[in-house]
Amino acid sequence: MPRLPAPPLPKVLQPKPKRPGTTSAPERGPLTEGAISTVDWLDERMSLSGGIRWMLFRKVPRGINWFYTLGSATMFAFLSQAVTGVFLAMYYQPSPTGGAYESIRYITDQAFLGQFVRGMHKWGASVMVILIFLHMARVFFFGAYKYPRELTWVVGVTLLILTLVMGFTGYLLPFDQRSYWATIVGVNINGTGPFIGPYLSDFLRSGPEFGANTLSRFYAIHMLLVPGAIAALIGLHLYLIMKLGISAPPWLKAEDEPESAPEPVEA
Ligand code: HEM
Repeated sequence: MPRLPAPPLPKVLQPKPKRPGTTSAPERGPLTEGAISTVDWLDERMSLSGGIRWMLFRKVPRGINWFYTLGSATMFAFLSQAVTGVFLAMYYQPSPTGGAYESIRYITDQAFLGQFVRGMHKWGASVMVILIFLHMARVFFFGAYKYPRELTWVVGVTLLILTLVMGFTGYLLPFDQRSYWATIVGVNINGTGPFIGPYLSDFLRSGPEFGANTLSRFYAIHMLLVPGAIAALIGLHLYLIMKLGISAPPWLKAEDEPESAPEPVEA
């Protein structure tokens, strides 16, 4: 992918041109001065400006459209889940002897904006699953999984599986009748899988029976293990996208190809 020349600094950070006939330094407001020295101070210590330019100033192919925003939309759905999840975790108690159910009731009925935050998290989960499938469909139908983006696709498939695991483990947390019995069915279905199925269901249940530790196991998977893995893999996914560049829409590629193959040269 061709690199762009380094872009100019934003206008606010550029020194004003000197007026003809003046010798004094160009005037800048205290805010601009403050911004420049803070950015300079940080950059002198961390040398981040090169990396940030590499990340943000990239060429994108002609003809890209709204379908190319589905990956970013999925990422924002994940960020929204992370933020609302942190607030829910402040009140949620993963205790199977009434604590979980009661804490969810407290969040819904009494906590300030609790119903709103819980609603965002609950509906956001479905939104993220819908967006990830739409993004995957865009990548598939545009042929964007082909060389050299195979690894981006493989990381994406892992992200899809982990997103579904988030939905499955989150479903148990309200610990009402529906979530309890639905999860038993789900764990049993996992147990029927070939080779690893029985180990997987034992791991999920935290033992051979659905017991006191199962809820803690699901909570740890739901709020620590899987979100951490998703965050790391999104980082890898985005790195690959920046490294390889965005693929051009397939119809453009077809347009750019010569009308017919060149005549073979006779020996
Ligand atoms: C948490 C889930 C995901 C996030 C946050 C994410 C994010 C992104 C972003 C921001 C892009 C850049 C442009 C675009 O939106 O098309 C992208 C591209 C890409 N994604 Fe994802 N993605 C996710 C899941 C997936 C899945 C499930 C797959 C496929 C199985 C996938 C495969 C790809 C591929 C191959 C590209 C390169 C497309 C191109 O160069 O045109 N991603 N992703």
